[in-house]
Amino acid sequence: MDEREFFDKLAPTWDANEVLSTPEHVRHVLSRIGIKKGDRVLDLGTGTGVLLPEIAAMTGKDGKITAVDYSRGMLDRAIDKCSGLCPKPDFICMDFETETIAGEFDHIILYCVYPHLHTPIDTMKWMRGVNLADGGHITVAFPTDEHFINSVHREKHSESDCLPPAEELAAWFRLNGLDAHVVESNADNYIISISKNPCE
Ligand SMILES: C[S@@+](CC[C@H](N)C(=O)[O-])C[C@H]1O[C@@H](n2cnc3c(N)ncnc32)[C@H](O)[C@@H]1O
Repeated sequence: MDEREFFDKLAPTWDANEVLSTPEHVRHVLSRIGIKKGDRVLDLGTGTGVLLPEIAAMTGKDGKITAVDYSRGMLDRAIDKCSGLCPKPDFICMDFETETIAGEFDHIILYCVYPHLHTPIDTMKWMRGVNLADGGHITVAFPTDEHFINSVHREKHSESDCLPPAEELAAWFRLNGLDAHVVESNADNYIISISKNPCE
């Protein structure tokens, strides 16, 4: 089973099994990211859209939200749940590692998505070059630490990669030319930010 089918199968029960990404927790993560009124936000691997109501509340009606996922099952749930938000998200069913997304964003978020990437550095650099506005940020985040994420992936026999500690991953990003730093790393939050400087 490939990853897309894996997530299609999980889609019907995803929200019922979601215990960590409560609205309060999502608000905490987004507040650390610094989303402002009117910001343009790209949610990569949106799944069933757990971030979207909170992103919409933070950007307000003048913001722009694009939600991308390659699992039709996951994305259809996000569409059912979140089409009434203001601003209404643009929902796109595509593989963001192999296809290009149109538009420029102040924030690109990968929430609970990073270990599923096949070519993470290339993907981040591509996103930074093509989709990230000057002064914008790419955020890699989880509502827990790497130990919990890795144990869940082992249990579900996911094909995803092992997630290293946040400091290690940020150092690896820097080695590969990405301006990364750890925003928060503890049992409840794993948040790394990658900045785009005007010269990049
Ligand atoms: C672990 S789920 C997280 C979903 C959501 N962000 C959440 O926290 O509930 C990972 C999601 O990323 C999507 N995904 C992974 N790789 C992707 C890719 N290359 N292109 C589009 N979607 C992808 C999967 O289909 C899945 O819905």
